[in-house]
Amino acid sequence: MSEHTARTRRAVVTGAGRGIGRAAAQLLSERGWHVIAVVRDAAGAREAFDRSAVEVRVADLRDETSLATVAAELGEDGADLVVANAAQFSPWDETVLTADLDGARDILDVNVLGTWRTIQAFSKALMRAQGSLIIVGSGGGSHGDPDFGVTTNAGAVGYAASKAAVHVLGRKAALELGERDVAVYVVDPGLTATAPGMAGMGARDPRDGALSILRPVLGDGFVPAGSFTRDGRALAW
Ligand SMILES: NC(=O)c1ccc[n+]([C@@H]2O[C@H](COP(=O)([O-])OP(=O)(O)OC[C@H]3O[C@@H](n4cnc5c(N)ncnc54)[C@H](OP(=O)(O)O)[C@@H]3O)[C@@H](O)[C@H]2O)c1
Repeated sequence: MSEHTARTRRAVVTGAGRGIGRAAAQLLSERGWHVIAVVRDAAGAREAFDRSAVEVRVADLRDETSLATVAAELGEDGADLVVANAAQFSPWDETVLTADLDGARDILDVNVLGTWRTIQAFSKALMRAQGSLIIVGSGGGSHGDPDFGVTTNAGAVGYAASKAAVHVLGRKAALELGERDVAVYVVDPGLTATAPGMAGMGARDPRDGALSILRPVLGDGFVPAGSFTRDGRALAW
């Protein structure tokens, strides 16, 4: 076995303080990965994780310097996996005509530019390890989701627009980073109960949402790089 495969694999997960990101960090840790959980509230996150397996780091997606600091700490070994998961939601009742555009600007900054900043910050670490980048998109920004997708009038317009842009960003990143031996996947976790009332809508448990987004690295079936999938199955962009 080579020195590279013998060492513990390292994963960075953004938005790991709660919801799907926290479940993903826990799952990876249980599967033997060394996890760097990127959060905004360090005290809360440290309580949630077993410190021996999960390192907690603080960064805000609006601040590229904080992301670059976390990336620099990864050193020469780099990162085998980065899960660009953190995002903000819009109000469910937000429409094109009624949206508060200051709020929409904030969503676009965190979701689109924040994901972009995450990609830029960790790209060198991923190249060093020839790792994988999982970008968490959403059925809400997809043409393949009959309940919440872009062809429905489901509300949360700013969020939908931001995630559609994230999908394009992910596709472009797959082409660019693919040439540098980094596999990029865009994934949708499926409706997941991370906010009050969502379980009553039939949303899945966060652990199942986490399993869904981690399919490209933890699943049994093959997920092609450059794809957009939910539960390992192709979803229309
Ligand atoms: N839940 C669903 O049904 C669903 C469906 C499709 C896609 N998704 C996607 O799945 C991912 C996770 O969703 P979730 O339901 O787990 O969301 P969540 O429970 O609301 O968690 C969002 C996470 O993102 C972090 N975050 C937000 N703004 C940030 C910023 N500026 N800088 C750093 N971190 C920030 C939050 O940190 P704080 O704790 O500090 O606020 C939190 O940890 C998102 O990309 C979402 O779009 C979710």
